[in-house]
Amino acid sequence: MAPLLWTSLLAAFAAFSHAIPYEEYILAPSKRDLHPVSVYKVNGTVKGAESLTGDGLGSAIFTDDSSAITFDYGKNIGGVVSLTIGQVDADQYIGVTFSESSLWISGKSSDATADSGVDEILWFQPTGPGTYTAPRIKDRGAFKYLSLVKNTTGTLEVTQVTTHFTALPHYEDDKMRDYTGYFHCDDELVNRIWYAGAYTNQLCTIDPNHGDAIIFLDIVNGSMPGDEVGTLDWYNSYKITNGSSCLIDGAKRDRLVWAGDFAIAVPGLVVSTNDLISVQNSLVSLFDFQDKETGQLPYAGTPFRKTLSLTYHMYTLIGISNLYLYSDDLDFLKTVWDDVKLGMTFALGYIDETGLMDATAAPDDWLRFGMGGHNIEANAILYYTLDQVIILAEALGENDLVDNYTKTAETIKTKANELLWDSEAGLYRDNETTSLHPQDGNAWAVVANLTLNTTQNEAISEALSKRWGPYGAPAIEAADAVSPFISGFELQAHIKAGNASRALDLVRLMWGFMLDDPRMTKSTFVEGYAFSGEIKYAPYKNDPRISHAHGWATGPTSTLTFLIAGIQLEEAGGKKWLIKPSLGDLMTAEAGFKTSLGDFSVSNKKDESGGFEMEFETPEGTEGGLSVEYPDGGGTLMVQSMTTGETKMIEITVDQEADRIEVDGLAGGKWTVQFTPNCDP
Ligand SMILES: *[C@@H]1O[C@H](CO)[C@@H](O)[C@H](O)[C@H]1NC(C)=O
Ligand SMILES: *[C@@H]1O[C@H](CO)[C@@H](O)[C@H](O)[C@H]1NC(C)=O
Ligand SMILES: *[C@@H]1O[C@H](CO)[C@@H](O)[C@H](O)[C@H]1NC(C)=O
Ligand SMILES: *[C@@H]1O[C@H](CO)[C@@H](O)[C@H](O)[C@H]1NC(C)=O
Ligand SMILES: *[C@@H]1O[C@H](CO)[C@@H](O)[C@H](O)[C@H]1NC(C)=O
Ligand SMILES: *[C@@H]1O[C@H](CO)[C@@H](O)[C@H](O)[C@H]1NC(C)=O
Ligand SMILES: *[C@@H]1O[C@H](CO)[C@@H](O)[C@H](O)[C@H]1NC(C)=O
Ligand SMILES: *[C@@H]1O[C@H](CO)[C@@H](O)[C@H](O)[C@H]1NC(C)=O
Ligand SMILES: *[C@@H]1O[C@H](CO)[C@@H](O)[C@H](O)[C@H]1NC(C)=O
Repeated sequence: MAPLLWTSLLAAFAAFSHAIPYEEYILAPSKRDLHPVSVYKVNGTVKGAESLTGDGLGSAIFTDDSSAITFDYGKNIGGVVSLTIGQVDADQYIGVTFSESSLWISGKSSDATADSGVDEILWFQPTGPGTYTAPRIKDRGAFKYLSLVKNTTGTLEVTQVTTHFTALPHYEDDKMRDYTGYFHCDDELVNRIWYAGAYTNQLCTIDPNHGDAIIFLDIVNGSMPGDEVGTLDWYNSYKITNGSSCLIDGAKRDRLVWAGDFAIAVPGLVVSTNDLISVQNSLVSLFDFQDKETGQLPYAGTPFRKTLSLTYHMYTLIGISNLYLYSDDLDFLKTVWDDVKLGMTFALGYIDETGLMDATAAPDDWLRFGMGGHNIEANAILYYTLDQVIILAEALGENDLVDNYTKTAETIKTKANELLWDSEAGLYRDNETTSLHPQDGNAWAVVANLTLNTTQNEAISEALSKRWGPYGAPAIEAADAVSPFISGFELQAHIKAGNASRALDLVRLMWGFMLDDPRMTKSTFVEGYAFSGEIKYAPYKNDPRISHAHGWATGPTSTLTFLIAGIQLEEAGGKKWLIKPSLGDLMTAEAGFKTSLGDFSVSNKKDESGGFEMEFETPEGTEGGLSVEYPDGGGTLMVQSMTTGETKMIEITVDQEADRIEVDGLAGGKWTVQFTPNCDP
C-alpha cells in the first residue's frame, strides 16, 4: 500500500510542478486534428449543418447546386483540410473556401495571397464514401472561416470536416500549449492581448518546406522558380530554409523570412515559448544568401528578389545579437561572426562625410515611402545595431572593433541630433530636407537611445500620442496607415520616456481593436489597417490579401513582460538581469519565462495606500539589480533574499529627486520587496 500511495503523491506533485501558469489563456490547440466550432451561416438547403461542429461524426446533406455552409473555427488556425464523405451520387463536386476575416467569406473564392484578385476554390470530387484530403501544397496558412460549397445537383453527405494543424511542425502533437512563459495582470483585455501575441508567433512558425505564398508577385523574373506551380493561383510548397521549422512573417502570407519583422516577433516568442531553433533556422537562411563579396544581406529570405534594404540588412544583424542575448549560445555566434562583420562593413559603407548613413541607394524598408537622405529611422537603427554588435565583439574579445564601432556610434548620435532634431516639434525630421516627422524614426530614436536627454524622450512620447486617432497611432510616413509593427516600437518608447500608462493606453486602443473587432480573428494580430479603422493597408491595392496573423504585430507580448512586469536580460541568457517594473495604471502584473540559464519570474502588487510588494526569482549563479518607481510619499523599502536571508532596508524621504530607486549587487535567487509608506505623509 505505502509505495503505491507514495508514487501517486509523487505523480501528483510532478503534475502540479509542471502546471503551466495561466494555461487557460493559451490559444494554441491541444491536438492537431481540429473541427469547426460553430456554424456561421448556411446558404440554400443543407440538412444537419450543425452536426459537423465538434469532435464527433455528423451528417450534413447537400442537395442543391448552390447550397453552402460557412463554419467558424473560433480562432485563426492553419493546415490541411480533409472532408469525410458518407453517401454521394455520381459526378458530385464539393469545394472549400477560406478566409481569415469575416469580410472575405465567399462561395466563389478564398481571401487572397496575391497583389490582385482572390484565391481559387479548393475542389474535391468524391466518388464514394471515405476521407478526402487536400494535397499538402494546398496547406492554407491561416483562416478562421471555412466554407463548403457545392456546384452540382444531387445528394452529397459530409460526415466530418477536419483541419490538420500544420504550424509548429517540430512540436509533439499534444505539446503545443507547453509555454515556457506567462503573463498576468489585473486587466483582462491586456492578458488576452499578451496570449494572442504569443499565439500569432506560433501560427507563424512553419515547416520550411511549405513556405512562400506570394507565387505571382514578381519574385524572380516574373514567376516562381520551379515548375510545380502550373496554373494554380495559390500554393504553399517552396522550401525557404533548412531545418525542420522556421519563423516567417505571416501565416497566410508572405510565408517568407523577413528580418525586420523579427525585431518584434522574436522577443515575443522568447517570453512565451522560447522556440529559438525556428529563429536560428530563419536567420541562417538569410546568411546563406548573403553576398560574400560585398557583405550585403537579402531584403527577405529565398526566393524573394535580392533588392537592397539597408534597414532589413541591419535587422538581420540585430537578429543575431538578439539570438545571442536570449540563447547565450557563443558557439553558434562564432559560426556566423565573420559574416556579421562583413555585414557591418557593408552597412557602415553607407555613412558619408556627415557621419550619418545616407539611405538614398536603398528605398526599400517596411513599405513606407521617402526612405532616402540621412533618414532618421535608418540612422537610429544603425546606432542600435552598432550598440548590439559591440556586445558581440566584446564577447569574442575583438577590442579594436569595439573601439571603432563605439566611436562611429558616438558620431552618429551627435550628428543626428544636430541635423535632424526639431526642438519646436519635439520630434526628429525624417531627413534634413523635410518637415515630415515620422513615427518609425522617432519611436526608434528613443528605443535606440539616440536621444541625448530625457527631455527629448518625453517630448517625443507626448508628440506621438497627440497624433493618435480612435483606432491607433498613425504611421504618417506610410500614407494612410496604422502600423502595428512600428507601433510596437512606439510602446517601448513611451515606457522608456517614463510613461507606462500611455503605453498601456495604446495597447488597449490598438490591440484591443485588433483582437475584438468582428472583422478580426479574435486570436491573432493583423499586419496593418487604415487610420479610419477600415481593413485597408495603404501599401497594398488588394484588401483581401492583408495578413491577419503577422508576427510583427505582437509588440505588447514582449513589452508587457520586459518593460511592464519588468524582467530585463542585460547579459546573454540573463547572466546579468534588471528587475525594473513600470506598472502604469495596473495594480498587479506578473510574468515569467525561461532561458538556457533557468527560470526568471516577477510578481508585482500595488495597494491603494501607495505601498507595494514584489517577489522575484532569477537563476542561481546570476546577478542583477532592482529598479522601482519612486513612490509619491516617503517610506521604507525592504529588499530581502529568501535564499540567504540577506536584507536591505532603504529609507526613502519625500523630497528625493530621482525618478526611480536603484538597488545593485543582488545575487540570483528568490527575493521579496516591500515598500511601506510613512503613516503621515
Ligand atoms: C451565402 O450567401 C451570401 C449572400 O448571397 C453570399 O454573400 C455568400 O458568399 C454566400 N456564402 C457562401 C459560402 O456561398
Ligand atoms: C464544379 O466545379 C468543378 C471544379 O472546378 C468543375 O470541374 C465542374 O465543371 C463544376 N460543375 C458545375 C456544374 O459547374
Ligand atoms: C532574370 O532575367 C535576367 C535578364 O533576362 C537574367 O540575366 C537572369 O539570369 C534571370 N534570372 C533568373 C533567376 O532566371
Ligand atoms: C540549405 O543549406 C545549404 C548548405 O548550407 C545551402 O546551400 C542552401 O541554400 C540552404 N537552403 C535554404 C533554403 O536555405
Ligand atoms: C526626405 O523625407 C521626405 C518625407 O519622407 C521624402 O519625401 C523625401 O524623398 C526624403 N528625401 C530624400 C532625399 O530621400
Ligand atoms: C573604423 O574602421 C573603418 C575600416 O577599417 C575605418 O574606415 C573607419 O575610419 C574606422 N572608424 C573609426 C571611427 O575609427
Ligand atoms: C543613453 O544616452 C545617454 C546620453 O547620451 C547616456 O547618458 C545613457 O547612459 C544612455 N543610456 C543607456 C541605457 O545606454
Ligand atoms: C536635449 O537635447 C536636445 C538635442 O540636442 C537639445 O536641443 C535640448 O536643449 C536638450 N535639452 C536639455 C534639457 O538638455
Ligand atoms: C502619461 O500619459 C498619460 C496618457 O497619455 C497622460 O495623461 C499623462 O499626463 C502622462 N504623464 C506624464 C507624467 O507625462
